[in-house]
Amino acid sequence: MSAEVDPVKLMKQQVGYAAAARVQSGSIVGLGTGSTTAYAIQAIGERLQSGDLKDIKGVPTSFQAIVLARDFGIPLVSLDEVDHIDVAIDGADEVDPQKNLIKGGGAAHTQEKIVDTLANQFIVVVDGGKLSNKLGTNFLLPVEVIPMAVTPVMRLIQKLGGQTTLRMGVKKAGPVVTDNGNLVIDVKYEGGINDPTELEKTLNNIPGVVENGIFAGVTDIVLVGEIIDGKPSVREF
Ligand code: A5P
Repeated sequence: MSAEVDPVKLMKQQVGYAAAARVQSGSIVGLGTGSTTAYAIQAIGERLQSGDLKDIKGVPTSFQAIVLARDFGIPLVSLDEVDHIDVAIDGADEVDPQKNLIKGGGAAHTQEKIVDTLANQFIVVVDGGKLSNKLGTNFLLPVEVIPMAVTPVMRLIQKLGGQTTLRMGVKKAGPVVTDNGNLVIDVKYEGGINDPTELEKTLNNIPGVVENGIFAGVTDIVLVGEIIDGKPSVREF
């Protein structure tokens, strides 16, 4: 491995390619969001262009996925046009030993959850740094909220034991606005999240919350990119 290669980028690349290699001709594919999935979208596009893969339809999870799919020549369909999704490929911010996830680092978790949970097979692609013994210990939990409800939702989450921050834009004044026109609250749970399944439901029950970033019990396969003895490798978790 050359000294200039960023190892995290290399792990993301390899794991993205490995997921793309599992896609079969004739599939409807959920296209996730984030820097790791971007490599999978690229590789699916390249397989299509080379003729190795035929008759693929992509269901995007974000504007980012739409732009990448167009760039790499993957035909897109909406959920109105399909009655199933064969496989979805998506990244994650944290993965626990039960394959529960935190997602939403890119503020796309609402559409991701819709597409990923509809898929017959949901493949998660991560680099080794995303694995954690307990969700919430390495990453804040994103919660998408309708703008007019932000203040009461933050108060209620605080009452329930979370520390809240409204996510602010980078190279954009003011808060992050999601692809759905909403805002994102990032929540810290001291000591991590004890019961992801329960917290996912509790947060989604608060009026004004659109969706939170816990994906409990929906992952089929986790592919992990690692560097072992200086060489990139991919293993199934
Ligand atoms: C988007 O909102 C997220 O759920 C991403 O899927 C997640 O943040 C993983 O992103 P990276 O692959 O860029 O780490």
